Amino acid sequence: MTQDELFKVLVAHCKEYGFIFPSSEIYDGLAAVYDYGQMGVQLKNNIKNYWWEAMTRLHENIVGIDSAIFMHPRIWEASGHVGAFNDPLIDNKDSKKRYRADVLIEDYLGKIEEKIEKEVAKGKKKFGDAFDEAQFRATNPNVLREKAKWDEVHNRYVAAEKANDFAEYRQIIIDCNIVCPISGTCNWTEVRQFNLMFSTSMGSTADGANLIYLRPETAQGIFVNYLNVQKTGRMKIPFGIAQIGKAFRNEIVARQFIFRMREFEQMEMQFFIKPGTELDWFKKWKENRMKWHVNLGMGAENYRFHDHEKLAHYANAATDIEFNFPFGFKELEGIHSRTNFDLGNHQKFSGKKIEYFDPEENTSYTPYVIETSIGVDRMVLAVLSHSYTVEQLENGEERVVMKIPAPLAPIKVAVMPLVKKDGLPELAQKVVDELKYDFSYQYDEKDSIGKRYRRQDAIGTPFCVTVDHDSLNDGCVTVRDRDSMTQQRVKIEDLRAMIEKKVSLTNLLRNL
Ligand code: GAP
Repeated sequence: MTQDELFKVLVAHCKEYGFIFPSSEIYDGLAAVYDYGQMGVQLKNNIKNYWWEAMTRLHENIVGIDSAIFMHPRIWEASGHVGAFNDPLIDNKDSKKRYRADVLIEDYLGKIEEKIEKEVAKGKKKFGDAFDEAQFRATNPNVLREKAKWDEVHNRYVAAEKANDFAEYRQIIIDCNIVCPISGTCNWTEVRQFNLMFSTSMGSTADGANLIYLRPETAQGIFVNYLNVQKTGRMKIPFGIAQIGKAFRNEIVARQFIFRMREFEQMEMQFFIKPGTELDWFKKWKENRMKWHVNLGMGAENYRFHDHEKLAHYANAATDIEFNFPFGFKELEGIHSRTNFDLGNHQKFSGKKIEYFDPEENTSYTPYVIETSIGVDRMVLAVLSHSYTVEQLENGEERVVMKIPAPLAPIKVAVMPLVKKDGLPELAQKVVDELKYDFSYQYDEKDSIGKRYRRQDAIGTPFCVTVDHDSLNDGCVTVRDRDSMTQQRVKIEDLRAMIEKKVSLTNLLRNL
C-alpha cells in the first residue's frame, strides 16, 4: 500500500470506529471541518490533559486561563493579523482552481525528496549489509542530480520568501513546470494575498454593527490578559500563561484530513521574561517541548526541529517541531521568541501601560515572550497515524490495532463475561464497579471473545478483562494486553493497580 492509500484507510478507520466524522455529513459535509466522535473526543481530552497538567501543574510559575473567542477588533490590528495574516494564492486559469503558491512549491520539493529517498532505499536493498548510506548519498549520480535540483529551487524559494517576492513564486512554479492537478496545465494567474481571518458582526445593524473576527490564534487572549493575570496572581517574571481553545482560519488549501482545518484547537503558552534572556529561554523551551513529545513513546526518530530561515519581523528565533506524518515530516508545534512585539503593540493601540516592575532591579520594562503553540488536532493526527498498525497473525488473519500510548487511549479497559449466563455477567458487573471510578471502560458481552478483542484493538484499548467460570471460584480474571496479546490471570482486587501502572497520566507526567 502506498502512503496515500494507507492514509485513506486511516481516515476510513477513524470514521468507522467513532474517532472523527466529517462535519455536517448528512448535508454532504463542510470542507475542512470535522467533528470528534465518542472515541475521538476522549483521545483529544486526554491529549489536552497531558499538555495542561505538564504546563500548569509541573511549573509553579505557569497558570492557565480561558479567554473569549470574540475579542475587540483593534486587537487584530495591533497583532498584525488585519494587515499581514495572508496566504499567497494563485489560480489556474483553465480549471479555475485556487492554490497556495508556497504549498505548490513545497510539494514539488517534497516530491524531489521522495525520489531521493527511493533511490537510497533501492541502494539499501541492492547492497544489503555492505551499504554505506553517506557514501551513496554523496556519490550516486541520480541522488546528486535530484539534490542539485532541490538546492536550486529551495534557494530561490527561500530568497523569494524573505523578500516577499510573489512574482518570483509564480516564476518558480512556471520554471519547474508545476501543473494544476485538475487541468494538467501551467496556465497560472499572478499570485495574490488573501487574509485568513473569518469575520462576523456584533450587535444589530441598526445599532451600528461592529465587524469582529473569529480569533485565528488563542495567543492574543493571553497577551491582552497579561496585566490582569500578573496583578491578580502576583506573578513574578519569569512566568507563563497557558490556554487551550478554538481558533479559526479560512484556509484555502484545506486538506490532509485534520492536519489543516478551518476550525481547530490550539494549546498555547506565552512565557514572559526579562529582555535579553530570551535566547536562553528559547533553548530551554525547545528542550522542554521535545521532551514532552518523546515521553509519549512514539519514537524520538519521528520528531525533528526545523529552524525558520525567514523570521517574522517581530521574532528573533523560531523553530517548528515536525512529526513524521504519513505524508512526511510536517509542523506539529511552533516555538517562537516573539520579543516584546505583542505587548508593545497592545500598549500602543490600547493606550494602557503594559509593563512589569522588577523589584530586584528596581526598573520597569515590557516583558519579552517565548511562545509554545501546538495544534490539538495535529497532535490527534500524529497519535492516530502513528498508532494505526496492521499485523499478520500466525493463523493467517489480519489484526488492525491502534497502538495508542496507553495514557491517551480513549478506553482504558474492556470488561467481558465469557458467556452471557451462569452468573458471569453479574461478576463482570462487579469488576466494572471496581474499576469505573478510575478508568474509562466498556462493558461488552456480545459476539465471540475473539471478535470482542478485535473491536477493542481497533479503538486502542490497552487491557481486556475476561470473566470466566473459574473466576467464580478463584476470584481471578484473564487480562489480555493489547500490544503483545499475552494473557495473564490476575486477582480482581489487584486489577486496579495493574491497569493504573500502565495507563496513568500521573506516571507519564512523572517521567518528564
Ligand atoms: N500563536 C502562534 C500560532 O498560531 P501557528 O504556527 O500559526 O502559530 C500554531 O500555529 C500551531 O497551530 C501549528 O503548529 C499547528 O499545530 C496548529 N495549526 C495552525 N493552523 C492550523 C490549521 N489550519 N489546522 C489545524 N492546526 C493548525
